Amino acid sequence: MNHKNAIKHPIFQYISQSAEELQLDCYVIGGFVRDYLLERGNAKDIDIVAVGSGIMLAQQVAHNSPTQPKVQVFKTYGTAMLRYNDIEVEFVGARKESYNEDSRNPVVENGTLKDDQNRRDFTINALALSLNKDNYGELLDPFNGLADLDKGIIRTPLDPDITYSDDPLRMMRAIRFATQLNFKIEETSLNAIANNKDRIKIITKERIVVELNKILESPKPSIGFIHLEKTGLLNYILPELTALKGIDEIEGQKHKDNFYHTLEVVDNISETTNNLWLRWAALLHDIGKAPTKKFSKKVGWTFHAHEFVGSKMVYKLFKRLKMPLNDKMKFVQKMVLMSSRPIVLASEVTDSAVRRLVFDAGDYVEDLMTLCEADITTKNPKKFKKYHNNFKIVRDKIVEVEERDRVRNFQPPVSGEEIMKTFNLKPSKEIGIIKEAIKEAILEGEIPNEYEAALELMIKKGTDLGLTIDD
Ligand code: CTP
Repeated sequence: MNHKNAIKHPIFQYISQSAEELQLDCYVIGGFVRDYLLERGNAKDIDIVAVGSGIMLAQQVAHNSPTQPKVQVFKTYGTAMLRYNDIEVEFVGARKESYNEDSRNPVVENGTLKDDQNRRDFTINALALSLNKDNYGELLDPFNGLADLDKGIIRTPLDPDITYSDDPLRMMRAIRFATQLNFKIEETSLNAIANNKDRIKIITKERIVVELNKILESPKPSIGFIHLEKTGLLNYILPELTALKGIDEIEGQKHKDNFYHTLEVVDNISETTNNLWLRWAALLHDIGKAPTKKFSKKVGWTFHAHEFVGSKMVYKLFKRLKMPLNDKMKFVQKMVLMSSRPIVLASEVTDSAVRRLVFDAGDYVEDLMTLCEADITTKNPKKFKKYHNNFKIVRDKIVEVEERDRVRNFQPPVSGEEIMKTFNLKPSKEIGIIKEAIKEAILEGEIPNEYEAALELMIKKGTDLGLTIDD
């Protein structure tokens, strides 16, 4: 079958023409071909392999194309890149590669297209389409990648032990593709990942996180995390999660397996939000449970203050994985810290408890509710319905309280400056006491969130503290 349709974009004409001028063969390969065959939409990255110099081909393409793009050359890797409108095109010369033990950087020799396909990660990524005049659009598929695409199988062109050991990032990629595409990883491949798991140490944290994020952004992230756990990779990457595995039983009392529970929560939340950081929050919401787990005869299993402990662990985890320590991390921390709040509240929905929740969660209150709803993993249909109903009541109440009391991001209506002026005070602890009393009274519903009421309470509190009004 010919696939001319895949390569009708003008950029392919320039590449084909340029290759002919240089008298070399070239092919589009990798993700572009895979995603075209899977009908996954138009890729923005195109990988071109030239049997000859990829750099020269890139320069010739730039010369021939009307947009005259700049060519970026990466001499050490023998690759070049140019941008054609919003498409990124990468050029590489076909090569044979062999890797050494402790680096991802290969020793490279020139090779044929087949050599190049051999050294690629998966059969579904080794598919190539010809850009040569005599067989333009022909699919070159020496490893039956097309059949694997059809059957939904992740398989390596070479012995998987070699493919993964050569570039251990591919272990993450195998699991990521299996998750994104809902494909199976061939058993020998899975075993090879388990065998090579400790080689993941040579991969930079940043690259690992790119794959983790792609797993988390998939429709059903648990597929990936189960593979990571079963192959032993998870223990290297996120030991906080493996620590949640297992069920303990003492005197007939058990707790749930918090690892599998967590995965259910992540899958649940992935049905309702694409927010990557909310998905991270779901993944990490229970990590404090491993270090806080205790058994007492009276109450059974407890995880006292696991939300607080967990939120502290988030920082260390982000730092270790070289993830950004910015407002995204703070968001995840806040979600973990507050992850039980709406649950406690749902048993008795009072105005004041809802006001406190809105005040503490600020702009993230809806995200927090989404997390808590995803956290409902009971298999008892009656309870499932009841918990969801309770959260619906909490959500309605949030809207009602918010409209009336406007406590989201609220600042007490009387400022510290006004307190100082009224009582002729220098900065002192009394100001804090009065401010806190006003905030508490508003959240408790004892006074409305209004200036006059707050002023009145300020005067009363100040007088109680023995302060006098400055006229
Ligand atoms: N490749 C590989 N080993 C890697 C990374 C990439 O063999 N560790 C090869 C594969 O043939 C892959 C191609 O290089 O298809 C391009 O890699 P990349 O752009 O990273 O991935 P894509 O397959 O295009 O997929 P995605 O964009 O989803 O990452």
